[in-house]
Amino acid sequence: MCGIFAVSGERNDAGSMVLKGLKKLEYRGYDSWGIAVREGEKIDVEKQVGKISGVKQKFPPATEAMGHTRWATHGGVTKENAHPHQVGKVTLVHNGIFENYLEAKKSLDDWKFHSETDTEVIAALLDREIQGGKNTAEAIRAVAEKIEGRFAILVMVEGEPGIWAARRGSPLILGRGETETFIASDIPAFLEYTTTVNYLDDGEMVHIHGAQANFSNLKTGTPVDKRNITVDWTTEEAEKGEFAHFMIKEIFEQKQTIIRAINHEDEKLRQAAALLKQANGVYFIACGTAHKVAAAAEYFFADISGRKINVVPAGEMPYFERFVHEGTALIAISQSGETADVLEVLERGKKKGAKILSITNVETSSVARIADAHLPIFAGPEKAVASTKAATAQMALCFLLAHADAEMRERGSINRGREILRTTASSINDLLNPRYEEHVRDVAEKIVDRPNLFIIGRGALYPMALEAAIKIQEVSYIHAQGFAAGELKHGPIALIENRVPCLVLGDDPETVSNAMELKARGARIIGIAPTPAEVFDEWLRVPDCNGSQAIASIIPVQILAYHLAILKGLDPDMPRNLAKSVTVK
Ligand code: M6R
Repeated sequence: MCGIFAVSGERNDAGSMVLKGLKKLEYRGYDSWGIAVREGEKIDVEKQVGKISGVKQKFPPATEAMGHTRWATHGGVTKENAHPHQVGKVTLVHNGIFENYLEAKKSLDDWKFHSETDTEVIAALLDREIQGGKNTAEAIRAVAEKIEGRFAILVMVEGEPGIWAARRGSPLILGRGETETFIASDIPAFLEYTTTVNYLDDGEMVHIHGAQANFSNLKTGTPVDKRNITVDWTTEEAEKGEFAHFMIKEIFEQKQTIIRAINHEDEKLRQAAALLKQANGVYFIACGTAHKVAAAAEYFFADISGRKINVVPAGEMPYFERFVHEGTALIAISQSGETADVLEVLERGKKKGAKILSITNVETSSVARIADAHLPIFAGPEKAVASTKAATAQMALCFLLAHADAEMRERGSINRGREILRTTASSINDLLNPRYEEHVRDVAEKIVDRPNLFIIGRGALYPMALEAAIKIQEVSYIHAQGFAAGELKHGPIALIENRVPCLVLGDDPETVSNAMELKARGARIIGIAPTPAEVFDEWLRVPDCNGSQAIASIIPVQILAYHLAILKGLDPDMPRNLAKSVTVK
């Protein structure tokens, strides 16, 4: 939630560099933005409501600047609530939630607040500590002690060169250039300048000034050594290229990403599977689309290795925590690896001695780093808010993991799983072409005026029906709901009337007969299946994928959701009210 970016260096265009970097982070939050530029003794702040993408602002020459794109939590979308916030000598941007900010605010009755944010309270606390005689590092440490909740902050202080950053929970990464240092909430912000990075870990702070970066412990102030890491992301991967939107680019990248996801040594898969085998209870923990992937994995494991796994949305896990103890395996699935609800479950589980396996797209993310074992999905940066290529890559990896689990009893199972996935990937390759996209767009045109849409599927296609609903809801704002195919007639069928579009995932006899029940009530049936059943009014072909059908079947829905958004004149990359990475609870 929220994009943060700062630069301290020798070039004199820090303001424009921050503007450019923030545009690359806009997927993290896009209701307002602001940039602070150090001009001699003063720090000037420019803030505006709205998206930053079209902004062409000129900034005074400066070697240091920092900025923020906001996803509102405390207070509405107004210029006053946009970051940076200034109190006295302190200018501050913030990602996260200061949970006890109201209590802290009571102690600041000498300051007249200009915004409704928790962030301004942090700035005021810092200013008071500095006025009281503490140096900036001491002040940041003292204020961090008072904050309950996750946060990442950047601080500039008038008359004091350099930029401070501190984190507990929310991500911050440093880019190390030859003459300058960057701090960002994600790598694409500075990728055009450097691929050398340092990760600021939880409970750490850093001061940057030009090429210098001094890290220390946020509690004790003890200096911390950092290793330089080279990331292999390319600028092309992080750009739209010839595509109109990241979402469609990332959908088309599934030609390669499914194969990349299964590029793990057998030994590594076996070790991950051993963690499940030795476990006393296995819980898959995830949110949103990643949770639907986990729900599909439940079917994969039941079918392939005969293992019953528990799938719990991370936010619901507190109700089951009494079952987590030493020996429990927590398998976290998260594209970003920064989702706060997931992290909280893992942190609490770790304290109880649970073993953690993470499946993320960002190898150095907080989720990956807290884990005992990590399986990256290698999908490359996913920037559209709607998760597409990460979801299918996660599914492919879970499918293979289920085969690794079966390998314990059945030699050759990993190879068989990999073979099925290779065939799936190659048939998906055939699907992802402009002609197929055109066909899906035609179907989108026929249903775009409908306010409600239903999706049914059974087996692993049931979680895909739920995922299909998320995709359609989040980018097209059409009310969409997914159901287990047999469930519709237990209530929701009352909502079916003339011309209500129903996506039917699958062509097995039971699902086809459920489709007939819908059609009998006037529904328009859009079949997503390998063969065209007679009941289908429209048919979107998908390959027959031998157990990994869920992976192929979600792709036409992703394209459909994208075109529904386009036909409605919406921006599918930045849907309203959403942000790519949900780093708040
Ligand atoms: O980064 P994560 O995979 O942990 O994110 C989880 C959800 O926030 C995410 O999948 C969300 O549901 C997507 N917008 C769905 O497309």
